[in-house]
Formats: sequence, C-alpha cells, structure tokens
Amino acid sequence: MQSKHVLVVGGAGFIGSHTAKALAAAGFVPVVYDSLVYGHKWAVQWGPLVEGDIRDHAKLVATIKEYDIVAIVHFAAFAYVGESMVKPEMYFDNNVTGSLNLLDAVNETKVPHVIFSSSCATYGTPAQLPITESTPQSPVNPYGETKLILERALHWYALAHPFTYTALRYFNAAGSDAEGQIGEDHHPETHLIPLVLDAVLGGSPIKIFGDDYPTEDGTCIRDYIHVTDLAEAHVRALQYLLNGGKSAEMNLGTGTGYSIREVIRTVEEVTGRAVPQIMAPRRAGDPAALVASPLLAKELLGWVPQHSSMENIVRTAWRWYSEIRKTMVDS
Ligand code: NAD
Ligand code: UFG
Repeated sequence: MQSKHVLVVGGAGFIGSHTAKALAAAGFVPVVYDSLVYGHKWAVQWGPLVEGDIRDHAKLVATIKEYDIVAIVHFAAFAYVGESMVKPEMYFDNNVTGSLNLLDAVNETKVPHVIFSSSCATYGTPAQLPITESTPQSPVNPYGETKLILERALHWYALAHPFTYTALRYFNAAGSDAEGQIGEDHHPETHLIPLVLDAVLGGSPIKIFGDDYPTEDGTCIRDYIHVTDLAEAHVRALQYLLNGGKSAEMNLGTGTGYSIREVIRTVEEVTGRAVPQIMAPRRAGDPAALVASPLLAKELLGWVPQHSSMENIVRTAWRWYSEIRKTMVDS
C-alpha cells in the first residue's frame, strides 16, 4: 500500500500549518520538519514534529527514510522582503542553498513528488494585469529572486531526475482557520491585514505606504487569498501529482484586487471600530498592483477559492487576533 506520509517542511509556520490540517483531513499523515526559527510548536497538531534545518542533509534523509515519505511540501524560507534587500546573503543561504540541499535529499531518497511555495514576488512589477503564468518573471528584490531560482532549479532537476513538482505562486496569503485552531503569528509582523487589526486592538496606527499610486484611490492593490484556500490547493496539487499530473507552475490568487483603503474599510465594517491610520511614504520595491489570473489552477487542479471574500478573510483573522492567538502557548 502506498505510504500516506507527507513531509511538510516549514509546517510549523502560517501556511504550512493550515496545509498540514488540510492534508490530515484528506487522509494523509503530515510529518512536519521545521527548525522553529519562525514557526510554533502549537501549530503542529496533526502529526509528528521533527525539529531540523533544511540545510541539515543527514537529518532530512533520515527523516524521509524513517517515515517512508511519499511527497514533500516545501514551505521553509525566509520571507521578509525588506530584510532581503539589506541581508541578501541570508536569503540566498536559506532559501536557495537550503532548498537545493532539500532537492539533493529528494534525489538521494527518490521521493517522487515535490510541492514548492513560490510567490507572486517572482513577477516583480508586471506590465499587465491580470498576471498569468506566462507573464515575464523579473523579481525586484532578493526574496523574489530566490523563489525564481528555485523554480528554475526544479524545472531542470525534474528533467534529469525521477520526480514531478508543482511550484505554487501564492499572492497575498491572509485570514485564519475558521475553527480557530491555528492562525497567523509572525514575529516581526509586516503584512497589512494583521497590522491593521493590531492597530484596532490598540497597537501602532497603520501606516499607509503611499497614496500616489496610479490606482483608483492612490493606494496599492493586492490579491488577498485565504490561507484555507491555499491549503486546499496544496492537497489538490498533491492528488494531481499522485495521479500522474505533469510538473507545472501555477498562480494561487482570486483574480480580484483590493486597495489598502478597501482593506481598511472592510476591517472597520467587520470590527465595528475605527482604524487608527497615518500616511507614510511609499515602501521601496512595492508594485502598484498585483492581481492573479487563477485560471490555470482551476484547469489543472479544479481549484476555485471558496473562503477568500475580503469580509471572510478579515472576519477569520479578527477572531484569531482578538480572541485566540493570546491563548496559544509553545510547550
Ligand atoms: P512562515 O514564516 O510562517 O513559515 C515558514 C516556516 O519555515 C517557519 O515555521 C520557519 O520556522 C520554517 N523555516 C524557515 N527556515 C527554515 C530552515 N532553514 N529549516 C527548517 N525550517 C525553516 O511563513 P509563511 O507565511 O507560512 O510562508 C510559507 C512559505 O510561503 C514561504 O516559503 C514563503 O516565502 C511563501 N509565501 C508566503 C506568502 C505570504 O503571503 N505569507 C506569499 C507568497 C509566498
Ligand atoms: N502595507 C502598508 N502598511 C503596512 C504594511 C503593508 O501600507 O504596514 C501595504 C504594502 O505597501 C502593500 C500592501 O500593504 O502595498 C500589502 O503588503 P504586505 O506586506 O502585506 O504584502 P506584500 O504585497 O508586500 O507581499 C509580498 C509578496 C508575497 C510575499 C510577501 C512576503 O506579494 O508574495 O511579500 O511575506 F511572499
């Protein structure tokens, strides 16, 4: 019988933990491999946790063999765009050297399938919207560059070695588990929606980074995708590969963009409170608008986002931030 064990690398983090939950619901056993540099023990609830770094080749190989791993879902990376501009070496070391080390372990152990977390950051500043998979990829920061390098490595490695892969290009992951078991808990937090909620809860006012962009209200537009929809896409990508699907790169977004002001308005509606806000200069490296065409993921995976209305994203995130997050403890 085929093993049901899936190695969820970086599975103690935000998107990885939601994917582990979805994998378990689909009948797989998620084995989380995470150094806990940013992840949380409390987020690992659906299978074993192996504490290890992706740069530790021997530990990776031993874990893959011990659990008879049938596929690897690879989330482990550093993902702070601003930090990547000032410390690119950290990003190339962890996201590139570490991930190539993981692919060496894949080749050595002959794991047949890999699902890789890529990003809309690989597109840089696109000339046209919506962004399709054939939109030229031209990253404008080291973080995006590291993701593109891995996509290219996967392409060439999979031609030479017996594995298939999907590279999933997430747009802006947001929201939290509807059952409140897990949620986003980044330290430091740099993403818009958690910072807006923090402002509502008495933290610093949200800084709006620029209102002179060529968009309707002058603020940046992004395509926010609920983390539960992302998790479901990983389960479908796994089933697609297990059923013999060809290697592919896919956008994961909704196809609808929201400006920063629209996000803030939704937070005010959902929470019933005013959002303390101040204007700030543009943040370096921010494209004016990023919106996905999600059609390829629909065609190949039958994936259509179900949870990604802005209202639901904010409602689930609000419940997590206002009530649940403070109750989580790392044992
Ligand atoms: P996260 O920081 O919450 O999770 C990443 C996990 O990887 C953490 O638990 C961390 O401890 C672990 N990790 C990092 N380096 C490691 C190493 N060397 N060895 C072992 N474990 C290591 O991040 P996230 O928001 O869940 O993002 C997951 C992935 O998705 C990342 O690869 C990120 O680049 C990508 N991504 C995220 C977004 C987003 O909006 N959050 C968008 C596009 C792509
Ligand atoms: N923003 C603010 N104020 C803030 C934080 C963000 O105005 O305090 C704005 C940003 O300028 C941007 C929008 O809100 O216009 C969204 O910003 P996020 O930082 O939440 O997300 P990004 O669009 O920068 O996300 C990018 C890429 C992802 C990548 C991620 C790294 O789109 O693919 O950074 O975490 F993975």
